Amino acid sequence: MAEFIPVPPFDLVVFGATGDLSLRKLFPALLHRYLDGQIPPQSRIVGVARSDLDTETFRRMVRESRGKFAPGACVDEARCAEFLQHVHYARIDAAAPADEWSALEQALANGAGNVRIFYLSTAPNLFVTIAQRLAEAGLATPESRIVLEKPIGRDLASSREINDGVGRVFDEHNTFRIDHYLGKETVQNLLVLRFANMLIEPVWSRAYIDHVQITVAEAIGIEGRADYYDKSGALRDMVQNHLLQLLCLVALESPNSMEADAIRTEKLKVLSALRRIEARDVAAKTVRGQYKAGLVGGQKVEGYVDELGRPTHTETFVAVKAEVDNWRWAGVPFYLRTGKRMSARRSEVVVQFKDTPVPVFGAGAGAPNKLVLRLQPDEGVRLWLNVKEPGPGGLRVKPVPLNLSYADAFTLRYPDAYERLLMDVVRGNLSLFMRRDEVDAAWMWADALLAAWEETGAEPYGYAAGSNGPTQSALMLDRDGRAWWDPE
Ligand code: BG6
Repeated sequence: MAEFIPVPPFDLVVFGATGDLSLRKLFPALLHRYLDGQIPPQSRIVGVARSDLDTETFRRMVRESRGKFAPGACVDEARCAEFLQHVHYARIDAAAPADEWSALEQALANGAGNVRIFYLSTAPNLFVTIAQRLAEAGLATPESRIVLEKPIGRDLASSREINDGVGRVFDEHNTFRIDHYLGKETVQNLLVLRFANMLIEPVWSRAYIDHVQITVAEAIGIEGRADYYDKSGALRDMVQNHLLQLLCLVALESPNSMEADAIRTEKLKVLSALRRIEARDVAAKTVRGQYKAGLVGGQKVEGYVDELGRPTHTETFVAVKAEVDNWRWAGVPFYLRTGKRMSARRSEVVVQFKDTPVPVFGAGAGAPNKLVLRLQPDEGVRLWLNVKEPGPGGLRVKPVPLNLSYADAFTLRYPDAYERLLMDVVRGNLSLFMRRDEVDAAWMWADALLAAWEETGAEPYGYAAGSNGPTQSALMLDRDGRAWWDPE
C-alpha cells in the first residue's frame, strides 16, 4: 500500500456529479483513497446535479462507473459498499435561487468539524452563479474551499470575469484551480529530477541544451464532448494549461522551497517570459491541424468533421515553437505538440542537448544526448548516451539509453492524478494548483496566438487519424534543422 499523509474529515460537494469527469475520475479517485484508508469515516461526499435522482440511484451510478473506470479496485466488496455509504445526492439546479438549495443544506447539516469543499465540475459559465448561490444560501463559510476545473473561461477576459466573481465569495487561498497534469506522478518527478540531483542542474540551460520538445499525443477523438471541444480546440483545451504547465516545470528556476507560492511564483516568471506569437510568426512558428478519417490502432475511425456532423475550422492538433525570453533559455526553442487521434497515446518531454564541440569520432558519429521523460504510458526516464558498439573492427559510436522504468523500479500502483489533487485540497496544500496570476499569464500568451491565427485566417491542415499530425509540423522543425523524436 502506498504511503499517504492523513487528512482531516471533510464534506466534499461535487457539482456536475453525473458528468463524465465525476464518474470517470473523481469518484474512482475517492474510492481508491477510501480503500487505502486515507478518508476519515466522518467524511461525506455529496453529488449535486439537476437530474431527478435519489441517493440510492446515484450510488448505483457510482458503483457502475467504478466497474468501468476502476476495475479491480474492489477486491473487498464490503469495503466498497462501505465507501458508497459516504456518498449522497442532492438535486439542485445551479441557476435556481438560493432558497431552492435546501437539499444541499440538509446534506451538509451537522458537519461543523469537517473541512468543506465545493468541487465545480461543470461548464465554466456556471462557476460564478454557483459561488454566488453558495454565499446566498449561507453554505460558503469563510474557511470553505472551492475547486475549479479547467477550462477557466475561454480567454483572458472571460477567465477574469470568473476569477473576479468566484473571488467575491472565496479567498484566493481557498481557491484551487485544477490542472490535473500537475497531479501526475511523472510530472512532479520533473521537479525532483531537476532539484534533487546535482548532476542535472548545471547543464540545464542554453549553454548545454539545444531545444526541448513537449508532446502530448492522444489516440482518442472527442469522445462525445463535441459541444465543448468544438468551441475550444486543442490550443485552449490542452496547450493553454497542460502543455504550458509542463513547459513551466522544465524551465523554472529553483524555488526556494516546495511551498505553494514559491513554486507558483517561479512558474509565473516563466509564463511572463514567454514570447508572444504575432501574426507574422504564424506560418513559421505554429501549425494547426484537424484529423481526417484513418486507422488508429488498426481500427477505422472517421474524420473530425464527420464525427461532429458539420463543417468546422476548429483545430484538433497544434504544434507551436515557443520561446522563453530569459537568460537561462534565450535561443532554446520549446517545441510543443498535442493532438487527438494521433498514432498512440504518448506524453513525453524530450530535452535534447547540444552536439559535442568537436566530432572526435568523425562527423555524424552517435547522436546528441537526450533526456526523455515519459509521462504516459510506460512512465520512466531515459538518458541517451553514446557508447562504443562492441566489436573488434573499428570504433563505432552508438546512442544507447540508460533506462529507468518506473514499473520495474517501483511495484506500487500508480495513483491517478485526481487522487493526489483531491487529498491536497482537503489538506489545504495549494502547490499543485494554479494561482490566478498564472492563469492570466497563460491566457495572455494563448490569446495573442488565437488573435494571430484569426488575423492570418490560418486554416487547420488535414492529417490522417493514426498519424503524427500534419506534415507541416515535421517541416516546422525541419526548417530549424531538427526533428520530432518519434520512436517507432
Ligand atoms: C483534458 C482535456 O484536460 O485532458 C481532454 O480536456 C484530454 O481533451 C485530457 O483528453 C487528457 O488527459 P490525460 O490525463 O488522459 O492525458
